[in-house]
Amino acid sequence: MPSQIVSLVVNGEEREFIAAPGATLLASLREALGLTAAKRGCAQGACGTCTVLVDGRPEVSCLVAVETVAGHSIRTLEGVAAGGELDEVQSAFVDCFATQCGFCTAGMIMVAEELLDRNPDPSEDDVIEAISGNVCRCTGYRPIVIAILEAARRRAVRR
Ligand code: FES
Ligand code: FES
Repeated sequence: MPSQIVSLVVNGEEREFIAAPGATLLASLREALGLTAAKRGCAQGACGTCTVLVDGRPEVSCLVAVETVAGHSIRTLEGVAAGGELDEVQSAFVDCFATQCGFCTAGMIMVAEELLDRNPDPSEDDVIEAISGNVCRCTGYRPIVIAILEAARRRAVRR
């Protein structure tokens, strides 16, 4: 299979690049586009650290063949901080000590962004369900759940 030119809308900007045969969305973001927030953990769809939003829905980008999302809208952690300012989810992660080594953080934040877009007032169980596909080896998860609930509260205050 030859290399191919693929076009994606990444964080609102049209990006075109040459994709190697069989390239995943994760590899394309990291290697072709230099967007390294999404991390390669298991590369088998089991840890969630590579999660990005595809047309607003969380996807494990290590399992997505990039040509299957050509022309689609991709949102990564790099697109979250508007004007370089942390949004409510990011600042709540910092304030609630929800990030330690940080390896899972980009995936967790993208899942949280989608949850709060879909459900601005989630219950604790809603948060636990939303992050159930994302592994964190450091925090014990509790600070992450607290941070996402705190982010929802901060968004409600801003509205
Ligand atoms: S690296 Fe994609 S799910 Fe683990
Ligand atoms: S902060 Fe280290 S894996 Fe989650």
